[in-house]
Amino acid sequence: MTDEFRSRFPIGTTVSFSQYMEIALYDESVGFYATVGRAGRRGDFLTSPEVGPLFGALIARRLDEEWLALGSPETFVVVEFGAGPGTLARSIAFAVPECALALRYLMVERSAEQRAVHADHLEGWMGDLDAAAVDTFVHSLTPGPQFASSPIAPYGFTGVILANELLDNLAFDIVRHDGAGNFERLDVRHAEDGLEFVVASTEVPASLALVLSSAVAGEWMPLQEHAVQWLMAAIDRLDRGTVIAIDYGATTEEIAGRPDMGWLRTFIAQERAGHPLDAPGTCDITADIAIDQLATACEPSLVTTQREFLQRLGIADLVDEGRRVWSEKALAPDVEALRARSRIGEAESLLESGGLGDFVVLEWTVEMRDEASDRSGNGR
Ligand SMILES: C[S@@+](CC[C@H](N)C(=O)[O-])C[C@H]1O[C@@H](n2cnc3c(N)ncnc32)[C@H](O)[C@@H]1O
Repeated sequence: MTDEFRSRFPIGTTVSFSQYMEIALYDESVGFYATVGRAGRRGDFLTSPEVGPLFGALIARRLDEEWLALGSPETFVVVEFGAGPGTLARSIAFAVPECALALRYLMVERSAEQRAVHADHLEGWMGDLDAAAVDTFVHSLTPGPQFASSPIAPYGFTGVILANELLDNLAFDIVRHDGAGNFERLDVRHAEDGLEFVVASTEVPASLALVLSSAVAGEWMPLQEHAVQWLMAAIDRLDRGTVIAIDYGATTEEIAGRPDMGWLRTFIAQERAGHPLDAPGTCDITADIAIDQLATACEPSLVTTQREFLQRLGIADLVDEGRRVWSEKALAPDVEALRARSRIGEAESLLESGGLGDFVVLEWTVEMRDEASDRSGNGR
């Protein structure tokens, strides 16, 4: 543990696991994502956008579907939360979706280090924006596509909110119940000889108690209040449109049933890392998303696997087209031919059983808001 981390979390103090995650992942000086942590082939873990441009081409199709369903509005806002280094935005720009002229694409990323690379290879770049500029950006009528980034997300727009592998990285607590309505929590204590887990009794939010109680008594499980709050705010941000979150997920009961808390994982340099309290700030800490906990905020309109989602969007057609282009140019392959051939391997990774293909795609459609109603709970 570095001296700087020790100064954030002094010896003798105890914090909840979610507070520990906030420091270990997001503290501006010592947090993994604020310093070294990255998605990508040369980074710490491979996400679907980082597999190659095929995923972005299919998300571009999903954006077009939504734009058409909304009546082809003149301004169509896409807010991507947890955009990492901005790879998905670049693939979507490259795919030139039908909605391009209407597109205002905002990458909301809390790490300034990662926002700093968003402009690379991206035409229509409007900068790293503050709150006032974000508001102007999402309401601008000048022709798109336009791209920008910010640590701040807007409210009151029509479009899509995307989150690929964001929710699994939002800080969570670790709890268990005794079968009689009593809960305990795993806290983190900074003892003389290092960090250790300590058990403390706790209350859980009434809205989540029933779902948490569906797990077998005595098994530790994630309590994902931050993810639930993120979802409530995301639904609230939209006047009309859809929130789409893609992640590895299961029910709370299934997650809690994994032996040895197998749902709590750490990653570094494409490999599983050690115990989450070892070497804080140097590895990713993540957990499966509890779909039923999210549903307490709002039932999803649609739940599919990533495999089903990408098949419906025509991944097979894009791979066939790639094969055709490659066979036409195989004797003198250019960049286009190599890109076309790479679709075959990309599709295998994106659809893989036991891997990205099993991810869940959760969608919440927000109908036109009634002017008189408040902004909350309007998903369906
Ligand atoms: C696992 S990475 C995923 C990156 C990218 N979406 C991808 O699929 O390759 C999660 C990212 O979410 C960012 N993040 C975490 N909490 C956030 C928040 N509340 N708002 C915006 N970004 C956040 C992290 O800094 C990190 O870059």
